[in-house]
Amino acid sequence: MTQAVDTEYMRVPIRGLTGLNPIGFPVYLEGSGGNPPVLYVQEGASFDLGREKTLVDGGVEAVLIPRKNRAKYLDRIENHLEALSKDPTLPLESRVTVLYEAAVEATENLFRDPLNRVKVHRCERMVRTQASVILREPEGFLAIRKVMGAGSSLTLHSVSVSALATAAAARLFPDSVSKVSLVGTAGLLHDIGRVGFDEEVGGMESSAHCLRGERILQELGLPDEVVQAAALHHERLDGSGFPNGFKGEQLDPVTQIVAMADCFDGIRVEHEGRIGVFDCFQIMVKTYRGCFDERHFRAFLKAFGSR
Ligand SMILES: [Fe+2]
Ligand SMILES: [Fe+2]
Repeated sequence: MTQAVDTEYMRVPIRGLTGLNPIGFPVYLEGSGGNPPVLYVQEGASFDLGREKTLVDGGVEAVLIPRKNRAKYLDRIENHLEALSKDPTLPLESRVTVLYEAAVEATENLFRDPLNRVKVHRCERMVRTQASVILREPEGFLAIRKVMGAGSSLTLHSVSVSALATAAAARLFPDSVSKVSLVGTAGLLHDIGRVGFDEEVGGMESSAHCLRGERILQELGLPDEVVQAAALHHERLDGSGFPNGFKGEQLDPVTQIVAMADCFDGIRVEHEGRIGVFDCFQIMVKTYRGCFDERHFRAFLKAFGSR
C-alpha cells in the first residue's frame, strides 16, 4: 500500500463485516498498480453473504475502510472479534491488527468516560481475547508488538503496558487464561487515575494518580488485584518506590508484573522509541536492580523471543 493510502485507510479482513444491517461506512477495494482504492459498497448499503462470497471467490481477503470510520467499523465487528482472532484462514498479522485497533478504540472510549461500566467491560473482553491469542500462538505477542503504536499518549501507553504485562503473565501462568487476562486488565487500567490530569506520558508522575485510579477502579467494582495495581504500580520490590515505600510481599504478583511492564514502556517513551528492546532491558537491569522479581523479569525477557 502506498503511504497516502496507508494513512487514510485501514486494511481489514472481510470476515466479520458481513451482516444483516446496512453497513455504516463505505468499503473499498485496493486499486491495482498504484491506482487509488475503488468503492465497493457504499455507506448505507447492505454487505451480505453474497458480497462476501464474490470477494472470497475472487481471491480477495481484505478490504479498505476509511480510517475516520474506525469506530463504526469496530462497532460492527465487535461481536466477531473472538472468532476473528481464532480464524485459521486469516494471517496472524491481520488478526492482531484488528485486535490492536479495537483495543485502542475501546480504551480511548473508556478514557473519555472512565466511570462507565459498559465501556470497562468492553475493554476487559478485548484484553481477554488478546490474552487467548498470546497464550495460544507461539508468535502471538511478537506479532502484536509489530503493530503496537509508539506514541506517548496515555491510551497508547496503557494498551502497550497491557500487552507487555500479558506477555510476561502468559509465560508465568501458561495454563490460566483468567489469570493472564487479569494481569492484562490491570495493565490497561493502571494509569486510569491520570485521565483528565497528567495525561502526557514521560513526565514525572505524582502519587495522586495512584490514589485516584484506586478509587475509580473500586467504584467500577473491578477485582482487588486490578485495584491494587493502579494504587501500587510505582512501588518497588526493594521498598524504593512510592507512594508508601511498600516492599516484597506487600505487593501482589499482578501489581509487580504491571509495575515491570510500566517501567519498560516508560523507558521506551523516554527515549522516544529510538532504542531497541534489549537496550530497554539493559537499562532495567542497570537502573532498577532489586526493583522487580527475578522470575518475573526472566519470563518477561523470554516473551520477546518466540517459543
Ligand atoms: Fe503511573
Ligand atoms: Fe504508566
